[in-house]
Amino acid sequence: MTPPEPMPAPLAPGSTIGILGGGQLGRMSALAAARLGYRCHVFAPDADSPGMQVSAAHTLAEYDDLEALARFAESVDVVTFEFENVPVATLRALEGRVPCRPGNKALSVCQDRITEKRFLAAAGVPVAPWREVNSESELRDAIAEIGLPAVLKTTRLGYDGRGQAVLRRPEDVAPAFARLSPKPLILEAFVPFSAEISGIAARGLDGTVATYDAIENQHRNHILALSFAPARLPPAAAEAARAHVAQVAAALELVGVVALEMFLLPDGSLLGNEIAPRPHNSGHWTMDACLCGQFEQHIRAVAGLPLGSPARHADAVMRNLVGPEGLAAWPALVARADVVAHWYGKAEARTGRKLGHANRLLPMNALAGDAQPEAF
Ligand SMILES: Nc1ncnc2c1ncn2[C@@H]1O[C@H](COP(=O)(O)OP(=O)(O)O)[C@@H](O)[C@H]1O
Ligand SMILES: [Mg+2]
Repeated sequence: MTPPEPMPAPLAPGSTIGILGGGQLGRMSALAAARLGYRCHVFAPDADSPGMQVSAAHTLAEYDDLEALARFAESVDVVTFEFENVPVATLRALEGRVPCRPGNKALSVCQDRITEKRFLAAAGVPVAPWREVNSESELRDAIAEIGLPAVLKTTRLGYDGRGQAVLRRPEDVAPAFARLSPKPLILEAFVPFSAEISGIAARGLDGTVATYDAIENQHRNHILALSFAPARLPPAAAEAARAHVAQVAAALELVGVVALEMFLLPDGSLLGNEIAPRPHNSGHWTMDACLCGQFEQHIRAVAGLPLGSPARHADAVMRNLVGPEGLAAWPALVARADVVAHWYGKAEARTGRKLGHANRLLPMNALAGDAQPEAF
């Protein structure tokens, strides 16, 4: 346990929050910050990024540009990040000059699937069997222990299903290894899940933790397509999902928002999969269906304000608007009275790119039971 420190005062209105990363998560955080009276300064390598478009200031520089980082540290009151692949060295260059929330611990644990799995187990969240793999013979040994099917993944920099292969038959092994090596790899048992669930928690500077209702996620082409809130789960599993993400937030000593992706097994138990130490795509519904959404919670935590209420006042279905298909769906969605639509301002509607999302609000308990909500 870290010894208690005197609580720093919350950031005064008008203070500046620095955000590493220029994507949609930073954009929605900056919009939430503006509503609380804060300015944001986005640091990112891409011009006209979604976050820069809505922020008071920006620095266009690479994450290893130490001079730009030093100037950035001078011009902001606190720093956060909006994606977990910010190099650890970047945060290290800022720490000591300006408070960084969350800090390097959360970042480094979540950048590597092996440290992440060890951390989850230590935090009391069960995970599927896994083995570290650094050679084809280690892979064959791992398969002998874990069996097939199994999933081979790069330990770092995977997202939206990139950097992984499902091994179903012995003849899948060599080509998958050839494609993914020489990067460090992990073999995971294939989980025959009945649903994919996520939990989202915020942890304040004072250690208070707030959790949202568990969420059920459906993917298309490995990209999140739909999130249902609340998840259609037995009450014990819904409680366990909240408890698991709260355990993760506390064990990471994170200040900010964290998401935990989980698999629901047919027996109602949950296995942890991945941690994202930041607001998460599966939490976008909270913006419109909760008193305090995930982006506002993140800003509240980072600014040292008390957390808001995560209470849900509507059932919700979130649809991601991805690529040209998402662009085509926009006019009809933005016209609907039961939908709150969000667009990220990206320059091109490239295939597989997340361009926006739509939150469809339904009366409380509309998602309960077996009724499938009408697709939208
Ligand atoms: N061990 C596993 N067993 C079954 N399905 C898996 C397993 N690991 C990943 N998947 C599937 O692949 C998707 C992406 O994997 P994930 O580990 O979340 O990586 P990322 O989201 O970083 O690409 C998951 O949402 C799930 O549908
Ligand atoms: Mg994932």
